[in-house]
Amino acid sequence: MINLGPRLLCAASFVRCRTKIADIGTDHAYLPAYLVEKGIADSVLACDIGIMPLKNAENTVKAHSLSDKITLRISDGLKEVSPDEADEIIICGMGGTLMSEILEAAPWIKREKMHLILQPMTHSEDVRRFLLSNGFAVTDERFVEDAGKVYCCISADFDGAVREIDEGFCQFGYLPPGDEINARYVNKQLRRVDVKLEALKNREESKAEYERLLSIRKYYEKGTGNEGS
Ligand SMILES: C[S@@+](CC[C@H](N)C(=O)[O-])C[C@H]1O[C@@H](n2cnc3c(N)ncnc32)[C@H](O)[C@@H]1O
Repeated sequence: MINLGPRLLCAASFVRCRTKIADIGTDHAYLPAYLVEKGIADSVLACDIGIMPLKNAENTVKAHSLSDKITLRISDGLKEVSPDEADEIIICGMGGTLMSEILEAAPWIKREKMHLILQPMTHSEDVRRFLLSNGFAVTDERFVEDAGKVYCCISADFDGAVREIDEGFCQFGYLPPGDEINARYVNKQLRRVDVKLEALKNREESKAEYERLLSIRKYYEKGTGNEGS
């Protein structure tokens, strides 16, 4: 039986039973193997852009006798996945910018009942910005610690609604009065804003960006009650 670390376990907890699942950037295919071994999924399409990662995936599939349940495929993002093969798409362990580019390149995902599970390693704000701009509602978001680092994992459903881009929300997600792990994530995201604010201070040519960053800080201050911090 495959054992997952907290990061992938968190992603697995968002999976809905008996959906058509595509795991993009699967590498060792640990998540697909876990899902079928646990009976959460009947089958999974496991894709990766690289030959070596797919070789890793093949080793996992063989070692766990899952060849009839996990289909392995070379694919750059969703390019080799057809719309009838996935109504739940998982992308974990990549940067948020690449993740949003992969999703942007597959307009067919913008359809009713499409569920996305996204676990960006960096730049989670790009993922939320993609979701808001493309008719997806962030329906759940959790924070986990794995190997000493804190990550977010986002669950999003397509509803087609046009949403205003709130840069504060993109940076932090919802700002619930979270636990220590959640607070570490928020602080990490806040630090990135503060470093940029400091660098752009008094630079006339960067005024628009400075104002945008200030609006993110205000979202944080309002959401956490840390006004003037
Ligand atoms: C760090 S691993 C993550 C593996 C696993 N999803 C996880 O979260 O532990 C990132 C994987 O994404 C793959 N990858 C990078 N760009 C990709 C793309 N455009 N399309 C598909 N896979 C990609 C890499 O080859 C690599 O195997």
